[in-house]
Amino acid sequence: MNASNILLLIIVAQIVSVNLGFDKSQNVLSKSKIIHLNGAIGPESVAFDPNGEGPYIGVADGRILKLQLGLQNRLFWADFAVTSSHRRNCTLPFAPEMEHICGRPLGLRFDTKTGDLYIADAYLGLQVVGLKGGLATPLVQKFEGKPLVFTNDVDIDGDVIYFTDTSTKYQRWQFLTSFSSGDTTGRLMKYDKSTKKVTVLLDNLAFANGVALSKNRSFVLVTETTNFRILRYWLKGPLAGTHDVFVELPGFPDNIRINPKGEFWVALQAIRSVSSISDSKFGMLHFTPQQMDEGELHPTAIKLSDDGRVLEALEDVEGKTLRSISDIEEKDGKLWIGSVVMPFLRVYGL
Ligand SMILES: *[C@@H]1O[C@H](CO)[C@@H](O)[C@H](O)[C@H]1NC(C)=O
Ligand SMILES: *[C@@H]1O[C@H](CO)[C@@H](O)[C@H](O)[C@H]1NC(C)=O
Repeated sequence: MNASNILLLIIVAQIVSVNLGFDKSQNVLSKSKIIHLNGAIGPESVAFDPNGEGPYIGVADGRILKLQLGLQNRLFWADFAVTSSHRRNCTLPFAPEMEHICGRPLGLRFDTKTGDLYIADAYLGLQVVGLKGGLATPLVQKFEGKPLVFTNDVDIDGDVIYFTDTSTKYQRWQFLTSFSSGDTTGRLMKYDKSTKKVTVLLDNLAFANGVALSKNRSFVLVTETTNFRILRYWLKGPLAGTHDVFVELPGFPDNIRINPKGEFWVALQAIRSVSSISDSKFGMLHFTPQQMDEGELHPTAIKLSDDGRVLEALEDVEGKTLRSISDIEEKDGKLWIGSVVMPFLRVYGL
């Protein structure tokens, strides 16, 4: 999200369930290390393959890149896969007018059993590519005869793929219009590989964004970015087929990723310092471009328990070094932090 471009966002937020103490919140993300992308920008999602290699990232020119060890132990970004076969003119690192041709890979997830990489491409739908990479194969690009408009994130449970279509009206490049118009046409969907059937699990969502299954697959989470919250859709047990609010948050949530303990990292553009929130009940919040520029929005990594309690919040209160985050992948005691607009990844040692 490019916050400074948001003209006037009027949001009614009633945030009742966030209660963070100073002890849980630390202004530390500015200390994270930078890994430059060398000519590419916007690593929206970060994923490691089942062999622990990577990370893999999707960037704004439509490529999926893999971080590899080269000669003399130097790390470099290798081309791994693409979602479009029409890439002749896809030479600029950032060209929103070309995204519908070149592709814009957002959510990335590996199937840990097969090693296949599932890709939510904002324009080209749900796709899959094998461990050798190359041109990905489309799986779902339409529902009931209508094209998906803004595929955003994905998670996998064997043959069943869960994914979001952020809006049925606005494409990715129109996200600010989607924000300011109060669009609620987002959907959480599922694709069953064995039957090739697509099902809508939840619709009328406000900017349906990140997707994450719980450790034992009893529920799937979906972020509603412009409703400042995460919904839980039950897949198993007595509540199966119903949903509830998992957590309300003090800002705009993007992707959610599970860690090895079954906790969830949420990438959040916080509205104000999370540490300043006590028994928070926000009233009406009005944002102006000045407030955005003055760092009213700043990146925060929030860790949630499997029942939706906030366990920890890592912030960059000034938002000077990081500015925006979209994804947090925990691996071997490090957080790999992606952003849809920055020309680098961040790595933070826990
Ligand atoms: C690439 O750009 C050239 C020149 O602008 C144009 O003629 C051509 O049709 C484009 N090719 C594709 C595949 O978009
Ligand atoms: C799955 O885990 C949740 C906690 O995330 C727990 O409440 C539930 O009982 C578990 N369900 C099964 C079927 O093990």
